[in-house]
Amino acid sequence: MTTAIEFRNVDKVYGDTRVVKQLNLSIQRGQLVTLIGPSGCGKTTSLKMINRLIEPSSGSIFVSGNDTKAVDPVELRRKIGYVIQQIGLFPHMTIEENISLVPKLLRVNKEQYMKRADELMELVDLDPRMYGKRYPKQLSGGQQQRIGVARALAADPDIILMDEPFSALDPISREQLQDELIKLQEQLKKTIVFVTHDMDEALKIADQIVLMQNGHVVQHDVPEQILRHPKDDFVREFVGEKRFMQFNAFRHVEEVMTEAVTVRPGRGIAECVQHMRRRHVNSLIVTDREGRYLGVVGAEEVYEHYQNESATAEMAMRRDAPTVMPDSNVEEVLTILQTNAKGFLPVVDRSEKLIGVVTRASVLNVITPLTGEESDDGSTVASI
Ligand SMILES: Nc1ncnc2c1ncn2[C@@H]1O[C@H](COP(=O)(O)OP(=O)(O)OP(=O)(O)O)[C@@H](O)[C@H]1O
Ligand SMILES: [Mg+2]
Repeated sequence: MTTAIEFRNVDKVYGDTRVVKQLNLSIQRGQLVTLIGPSGCGKTTSLKMINRLIEPSSGSIFVSGNDTKAVDPVELRRKIGYVIQQIGLFPHMTIEENISLVPKLLRVNKEQYMKRADELMELVDLDPRMYGKRYPKQLSGGQQQRIGVARALAADPDIILMDEPFSALDPISREQLQDELIKLQEQLKKTIVFVTHDMDEALKIADQIVLMQNGHVVQHDVPEQILRHPKDDFVREFVGEKRFMQFNAFRHVEEVMTEAVTVRPGRGIAECVQHMRRRHVNSLIVTDREGRYLGVVGAEEVYEHYQNESATAEMAMRRDAPTVMPDSNVEEVLTILQTNAKGFLPVVDRSEKLIGVVTRASVLNVITPLTGEESDDGSTVASI
């Protein structure tokens, strides 16, 4: 991998405060790197030093191997895409004109840059025929932000800097744009430096995360390593305790089981189907009024009996389905689950009472957040 951007001992001083301190950072080509940290830690300052919107007080920044001090800042900026929160589309220009601005400056011929504008709009999922001739204020916030991304891509730069580009959007548009950025990045393989202070966003989109505090880098690593090996308490606190995993010493089924979806024996087959659909399950567990386990009705049983209008859950159910005890061992249960077509096992205690089900997914409850809210491993039984 080659280095796209490198900070060497970079300082930024305002008056007598050093807001960026001895920053050393290598960003590899084709990577999406997020800069994250508390407000005021120097993210924007660091980002703007890359395209010389801010000049370092000392140290050097290399872009594609060249010391940026030796590059004309205007030239530099034309080769580096830049997207910010209030994207600053020019209000008196149409969307098309906004996107074509840089290629126009670069003296690309008109036919070429108009075609490019159309391609870019399609790339960010906006129909050029519908939106090309509109003005920015005729677009929603999310659509404007998409145009911001399209504009940053217009001159086909290798590097794109993004400073909290999605943070002013509602959660749904934000998720959508994150998904699109991931898709775009898979296609285009740009080097992207993305500033955020949202850890969920960073974990979702980043190849690498750079955690900053008071103007320096605390930890620079892939998301998986940050989650597994936070360097210190600051990282731990910033990432949020609930995201760290630890392996619990759970060994018994009762500690990992989940809620069972049940049905009374007298219910009809159509009712069973309705209930399964509503609860998104592929089987129901038949219990009597005392909550005792009777059998299982799955898709096969339904299929076999649905034509019989007087058939009931009790008539259709399998009575010989395997069950497990609450104190059964989790590893053993996983072995049984591997060969079990239904993919779950009812958990039944010694007095025949149904207390839950164990599925492959519920075994993931063995790995629980270090602290935080309880996972839903309750033994509650839902019923109709
Ligand atoms: N022109 C300036 N003059 C003096 N101090 C400045 C100037 N610009 C930024 N700072 C200070 O530098 C520090 C870093 O600012 P910067 O904008 O890089 O933070 P940030 O990490 O991007 O924060 P946020 O998450 O709030 O955007 C802050 O303490 C800020 O007050
Ligand atoms: Mg900032």
